[in-house]
Amino acid sequence: MDQALRPNNWDDYIGQDTIKENLKILLTAAKERGHTAEHILFYGPPGLGKTTLAHLIAKETSRQLKSTSGPAIEKVGDLASILTNLSPGDILFIDEIHRLNKMIEEVLYPAMESGVLDIIIGKGPSARTIQLDLPPFTLIAATTRVSLLSAPLRSRFSGGVFRLEFYSQEQIKQILARSADILGIKVNDDAFDEIAKRSRFTPRTANYFLKRCRDYAQVHKKDLDQKTVFLALSLLGIDELGLSEIDRATLEIIIEKFNGGPVGLSTIAAALSEEDATIEDVVEPYLMQRGLLERTPRGRITTKKAYEHLGFDVLDK
Ligand code: ADE
Repeated sequence: MDQALRPNNWDDYIGQDTIKENLKILLTAAKERGHTAEHILFYGPPGLGKTTLAHLIAKETSRQLKSTSGPAIEKVGDLASILTNLSPGDILFIDEIHRLNKMIEEVLYPAMESGVLDIIIGKGPSARTIQLDLPPFTLIAATTRVSLLSAPLRSRFSGGVFRLEFYSQEQIKQILARSADILGIKVNDDAFDEIAKRSRFTPRTANYFLKRCRDYAQVHKKDLDQKTVFLALSLLGIDELGLSEIDRATLEIIIEKFNGGPVGLSTIAAALSEEDATIEDVVEPYLMQRGLLERTPRGRITTKKAYEHLGFDVLDK
């Protein structure tokens, strides 16, 4: 997301109130004791503000944030180098932590728990371990797939494991109003409503739509009103419920090819030529939130509402 749109303080960060309250207590208590805060894990669908929260915590506690991601840490040496280069009190942010491989996780455990780095030198019987003390740091990790984290890794986030929720339409409107202000865009109130309605209850999507609607209004020399939003988002293939092409294709495949389900995730993904993870982490959470899709032990099923929304005969269900 645009750096400029990131909230600079707790008041600017809209929604996720319980998480905010818990974090404030955790951070204030740590500060009063003169310690670094304990490690924190955020999880939930993409675009809800996990990275934003990590940046905000760094800002609010005047700490330096060093940022990396699971797939970027390929070797144990990569993690060792990141950890030994931290300054005391730094925040280390690891995005997509579920993509960290097992060997690297093993190095991370003692680093998180005891602030030490175990390095094995040599091979076979003559191999030995040396232990390096690390500067005190706070790990903030984020993932869209908490179920892929091993139990030992999850349990080491002693500061808390927080699940981000979808936002309400009203909260998205507030976020949009703030963004429009920062970007200097004049937007009619009904246009805010229309963008919010289609934004998948997700700030990243809302801000993206706002910018695309601004572009459309600018090029067509129109005001950014409800009609402009309607035209701009229709052109992007976004419907009134905020569904994109891939969302609709997912529902259509289940309805048309599998008679509404139940059908397994891999079968759906293969039929769409998509990765399982994309369907599971990006597409399905919003379809479930909207009551269009259900996950059952026997597979995915589409609901009556999905049939109605896509114009299929509900009697077929
Ligand atoms: N940008 C992303 N998430 C946000 C939030 N919760 N509040 C304000 N701006 C945001």
